[in-house]
Amino acid sequence: MSHIGIIYWSGTGNTEKMAELIAKGAADAGAEVTCKNVSAASPGEIDGYGVVVLGSPSMGSEVIEESEMEPFVDAVIPKLAGRKAAIFGSYGWGDGEWMRNWAARMKDAGINLLDDGLIAHETPDGESEQECVTYGGRIAAF
Ligand SMILES: Cc1cc2nc3c(=O)[nH]c(=O)nc-3n(C[C@H](O)[C@H](O)[C@H](O)COP(=O)(O)O)c2cc1C
Repeated sequence: MSHIGIIYWSGTGNTEKMAELIAKGAADAGAEVTCKNVSAASPGEIDGYGVVVLGSPSMGSEVIEESEMEPFVDAVIPKLAGRKAAIFGSYGWGDGEWMRNWAARMKDAGINLLDDGLIAHETPDGESEQECVTYGGRIAAF
């Protein structure tokens, strides 16, 4: 089973909580997992991961976070062509437009994306907590 790298940005902790739950699901399924804030990550490290998992809440106006996550995503997309990836994030008042656009951007770049990403409304709890853990297990089997 390959090493899974989860790299995320989170302003108020909701996407971070999703990342931790996804990491738990993947680890419970037997995968080796590295989970870190994008501020501690470098684009080069993704070469060491079999599945690259990126997380960002919906920010600005239905975009991924622009100061740290967008430059990181922009740098890693060319490296991910033909490879496996997954994306996730929390949102507030929208309808998930940022995730649809992000998924389309990844697929257009030739990335083998798991589903069309996973979204949770604000803090994941109850059913959406379980969805994150399940998604982690599916990433481990991807
Ligand atoms: C500056 C800013 C812009 C936002 N823009 C959107 C948006 O366009 N659509 C949306 O659904 N939620 C938007 N939100 C809400 C966040 O996506 C939501 O609160 C999310 O849970 C934050 O995740 P985090 O705790 O990981 O930062 C915005 C929040 C902030 C602070």
